[in-house]
Amino acid sequence: MLDPLSKFIFRHHHKVERNVTVLLVLSFLVVTIGGIVEIVPLFYVHNTIEKVEGVRPYSPLELAGRNVYVREGCYTCHSQQIRPMRDEVERYGHYSLAAESMYDHPFQWGSKRTGPDLARVGNRYSDEWHVRHLADPRSVVPESIMPRYDHLAETDLRTDDIADHLQVNATLGVPYTPEMVAEARADLLAQGRNGTDTAGLETRYPKVQARDFDGNPQRLTEMDALVAYLQGLGTSVDFTRYEPLAHENLR
Ligand code: HEC
Repeated sequence: MLDPLSKFIFRHHHKVERNVTVLLVLSFLVVTIGGIVEIVPLFYVHNTIEKVEGVRPYSPLELAGRNVYVREGCYTCHSQQIRPMRDEVERYGHYSLAAESMYDHPFQWGSKRTGPDLARVGNRYSDEWHVRHLADPRSVVPESIMPRYDHLAETDLRTDDIADHLQVNATLGVPYTPEMVAEARADLLAQGRNGTDTAGLETRYPKVQARDFDGNPQRLTEMDALVAYLQGLGTSVDFTRYEPLAHENLR
């Protein structure tokens, strides 16, 4: 036995199927309602839009490294999003917070993991390990299928246009101040070279790691920038002090 609603639908559905205009209008309505139901709550769920202490825009050298990462297509094999499942959290660390990628344009969450997730790879290995691994992955992980990126250590980092990169990100909503843009190139050089004055850099970008990253202090290369970026990944939030706002989710 069918309930009255199903009976009604059976009896009249052929009218909708035979009239293209009615079908389109009704389909549009259904998709609209479905879309609203899925999307609108996100604007109100607090932890999709919360600011989290410690998250700051990338320093100029990290941003340059991120550009190398995107250019080389690292995202085709690596995700940067730890999902809140137990196996992932045990392997990679605390699940990713929305705020941690709020300054990523474009975001690097990725949809495919040929290699491991990199969202919290910062400070997990030494700089030397990264440099060796990037130059020749099989020298440290014999079974690796990752390509070699040894050319990065041979390529001087382009620094003259870094202020423009900050400016573009500022246009997209990243809170780079005019001072940060003006100091971009100086900050980049200060972070990547041993023994430079980093006081200004450190006030503008708290917890920034400044040193020679690629083991070759004579040159500032794309390898320096990429390793600086990798070593910062996932290190901005202090998870011993972070408390999820679950109880406040729906305000
Ligand atoms: C063809 C797929 C592929 C591409 C492209 C690729 N990787 Fe990998 N990557 C892997 C695989 C597989 C591993 C695991 C084996 C290993 O450690 O080499 C890995 C491991 C890593 C690790 C170590 C992660 C960990 O937690 O042990 C880092 C860091 C890394 N890759 C960075 C990069 C960067 C940066 C790029 C771009 C310049 C890149 N990868 C491009 C496949 C890839």
